[in-house]
Amino acid sequence: MIEARELSKRYGDIVAVDRVSFSIERGEVVGFLGPNGAGKTTMMRMLTGFLPPTDGEAIIAGHDIFEDPLAARRAIGYLPETPPLYPEMTVAGYVEYAARIKDVPRRERRAAVDRALERCALRDVALRVIGTLSKGYRQRVGIAQAIVHDPPVLILDEPTVGLDPLQIREIRDLIGELASGQGEHQHTVILSTHILAEVSAICRRVILIVEGRKAVDAPIDELTRDGHGLEELFAREATRDLAADAAAAAAEGAR
Ligand SMILES: Nc1ncnc2c1ncn2[C@@H]1O[C@H](COP(=O)(O)OP(=O)(O)O)[C@@H](O)[C@H]1O
Ligand SMILES: [Mg+2]
Repeated sequence: MIEARELSKRYGDIVAVDRVSFSIERGEVVGFLGPNGAGKTTMMRMLTGFLPPTDGEAIIAGHDIFEDPLAARRAIGYLPETPPLYPEMTVAGYVEYAARIKDVPRRERRAAVDRALERCALRDVALRVIGTLSKGYRQRVGIAQAIVHDPPVLILDEPTVGLDPLQIREIRDLIGELASGQGEHQHTVILSTHILAEVSAICRRVILIVEGRKAVDAPIDELTRDGHGLEELFAREATRDLAADAAAAAAEGAR
């Protein structure tokens, strides 16, 4: 459903994403885990077509995001790091606007908006102005705009950042429901987080990104099978990567 082939992004001398490849099947919920600055947002912006890669390809639901961007984008719901919410719009008005820019046909729009509001538990605040909502509700509005065209793929950049524990639980439950839908309504989800507990709470598979590179890609139950905590494993992977870098730099210096 989602395929990254050797995706790279360089900003001048900075390598934000370094030849990352993976393949994600329908219905999988995958967590991109990594410290701040690891390259998660850059990766997601490339997968959604907002940022051209320096190298590599991204295929979403069979469409190359850069060769066939319209078809690929139709298959994607994207919650950016900072969703462009218009504080003066009402919740329903904004989700309707999102449906319009995502080409949901006029006669289906009403039902699409209602469904998105329902799934995100936003019905009670449909007529409220976005600027007056709590951060948790605003995050749900961000998710509602991402799912309004019923895309098979959801890409959520730090969906619970800045929320309180209760709001975090609500958003996690919502993501779980979106992923567990049946048939047509089953979503494939990638979410990013710098919080370890988040991946074990929501995801079945984790891709650990360290300094732009894929350090681990495995099902969570496999990683924790022999009694290791995820924490321990990731600390080891992160430092192994840094140690390898230091060794490479030393070798470079010796030449
Ligand atoms: N527009 C940009 N110009 C230069 N460097 C950038 C730009 N965007 C991101 N970076 C750098 O790329 C790296 C990865 O950033 P990012 O993808 O935002 O990481 P994450 O989302 O994991 O915190 C960081 O070192 C960041 O400073
Ligand atoms: Mg980020």
